[in-house]
Amino acid sequence: MMPESAALEGSGRPIAIFDSGIGGLPYLASARASLPGESYVYIADRAGFPYGTKTRAELRDIVVALVGRVRGAFDPKALVIACNTASQAGLEAARRANPGFPIIGTVPAVKPAAERTRSGIIAVMATAGTVGDPYLDALVARCAKEVRVIRVAAQPLVAFVERRSAFASPEERRAAVEGFVRPLTDAGADEIVLACTHFLHLRDDIAAAAGPGVEVVDSRDGVAGRLKAVLSERGLLATAGAVPPARSRFVLTGEGPFEPEYAILATAFGLDGPTCLSPRPREARA
Ligand code: DGL
Repeated sequence: MMPESAALEGSGRPIAIFDSGIGGLPYLASARASLPGESYVYIADRAGFPYGTKTRAELRDIVVALVGRVRGAFDPKALVIACNTASQAGLEAARRANPGFPIIGTVPAVKPAAERTRSGIIAVMATAGTVGDPYLDALVARCAKEVRVIRVAAQPLVAFVERRSAFASPEERRAAVEGFVRPLTDAGADEIVLACTHFLHLRDDIAAAAGPGVEVVDSRDGVAGRLKAVLSERGLLATAGAVPPARSRFVLTGEGPFEPEYAILATAFGLDGPTCLSPRPREARA
């Protein structure tokens, strides 16, 4: 039985989800499907975009500062880093800087891919930062030591997704992914792990380019499941039907005017906005 104060607290406060850009939106959709009674604030760190070309130290500082700003602005009850690159570089530091505050990170779906492969070859598509990160080495050593893992840095696809995918024709989308996917299937990979959240926006295009017999996997449902478990353990789940959830919002860092894709995506994902994250950082609440 959860304490009443926790139930009340859980009902009013939003869940914050952030990424360098629009990559985390499919993760928001998955969280919402799993926890429809919650309200959400989605933050695209447009001023910090892209993350994949930054050093680990730069990213760690960006993540810690952004978590502080988001807590100061929205007092969320939990925060999801819907970004593999930011999670690898900044999750631990963000947790250390915010003791007791639930922060959920994103881990590439290497484990399920390694368990499901029939060819014994899996591919990991990620940012330039993630493919060479020691975190990925450790994950592969832990979860995929029996299989061959091909890594591909598909950083150009991140900018394509962020700036073009809202307007691109199916032919353009297919052409954008083709050159990254073909070498993976030619090498015999039958599982492709989307280890950059931006690539989920191209999931169907990647699956079509890969062809039948190749599975494309990602971690959005795992992250949503973890979020639910963490909120439940702490008695922070919104009480079903008690208070209708406030409208969920789409927030951007940096100065306006905002590029037109953000308004299109806000509508597509059922979010109010986009609006600007308050430019002056405020003190994170204890
Ligand atoms: N969406 C991010 C990820 O999952 C990072 C993309 C970028 O900004 O380079 O890694």
